[in-house]
Amino acid sequence: MTEEEKIFSGGVAVITGAGAGIGMGIARRCGHIGMTVIVTDIDKANADKVAADIISTGGRAEAIKVDVSKPEALDALAQDVFDRHGAVRLLVNNAGIETIGNVWEIPTARWETTLNVNIHGVVHGVRAFVPHMLRVGQEAWVANLASVGSFGQMPTQTAYMMSKHAIQSFSECLYLEMQVAKVPINVCSIIPGMLKTSIFDAQAGKGEPQSAVAHRATMAHMMANYGMDLDEGCRLFVQGMAARKFWISSQPEMTEQMLAGRIAFFEKQATPALSDQTRALLGL
Ligand SMILES: NC(=O)c1ccc[n+]([C@@H]2O[C@H](COP(=O)([O-])OP(=O)(O)OC[C@H]3O[C@@H](n4cnc5c(N)ncnc54)[C@H](O)[C@@H]3O)[C@@H](O)[C@H]2O)c1
Repeated sequence: MTEEEKIFSGGVAVITGAGAGIGMGIARRCGHIGMTVIVTDIDKANADKVAADIISTGGRAEAIKVDVSKPEALDALAQDVFDRHGAVRLLVNNAGIETIGNVWEIPTARWETTLNVNIHGVVHGVRAFVPHMLRVGQEAWVANLASVGSFGQMPTQTAYMMSKHAIQSFSECLYLEMQVAKVPINVCSIIPGMLKTSIFDAQAGKGEPQSAVAHRATMAHMMANYGMDLDEGCRLFVQGMAARKFWISSQPEMTEQMLAGRIAFFEKQATPALSDQTRALLGL
């Protein structure tokens, strides 16, 4: 039995945004190591497919439609899962969207969706599930999706970048709250470098300004050509959670590079400046 199986097998995993991309990859991995996987997504048809895929390979899974931008949907999910399964060993607050465009060009609705999904979806996932975890009293895990973008700057991706900075801060403070409260809940910050997913697909940009189209296409191209294999990245994430790590990176060298840049920026209290890499990405 692997360490992951020892820790997680027989437990329940709840994963948001698990109908595609990283959520799907983590769901498949959790199913593979013997967890019962609650595959949630705003897109029920995709969640159904992922759950069916896990079941077809001998695992246990069910699909539930959940829109993480609605706090009451997360409350209902937590109540339902704890009522039917008794406990949740792993909650992965994964659902997230990219939004591209200058701050002043992004329509209000897209701004609100971005902040509601990327920030409030994580906050209310924790608010809804942790009281149940505490009541049950067993060791549990809460993993939140940050990004290497949590440590960087990228014009025209401001909405996304600020949300990922927020999630890193949220997870750090949440980790300390668990220490202060002396409760057996492990908090993990999942930091993908770049994994091959559909986050930059053209249809995911609905509601973005016209100026976003070219940058989205550049990022999609980069992800398709240089992104890490999804299942390999998600295997590393689950392995890191089983090891009770706080920092869990798919590409640690990318995390280190971004952190080094951030540290230098802070040490110098530097004025933000466009790097050569940023200029190239923006076609400047
Ligand atoms: N792919 C990467 O390289 C990368 C890098 C850094 C961080 N991340 C983070 O990983 C997470 C997953 O990204 P991905 O690349 O797999 O994206 P993706 O677009 O491939 O998948 C995201 C999933 O979330 C779902 N979703 C969107 N809005 C939702 C909502 N309101 N409620 C519930 N589900 C919703 C989508 O339907 C989709 O199934 C995000 O938080 C993202 O910021 C990804």
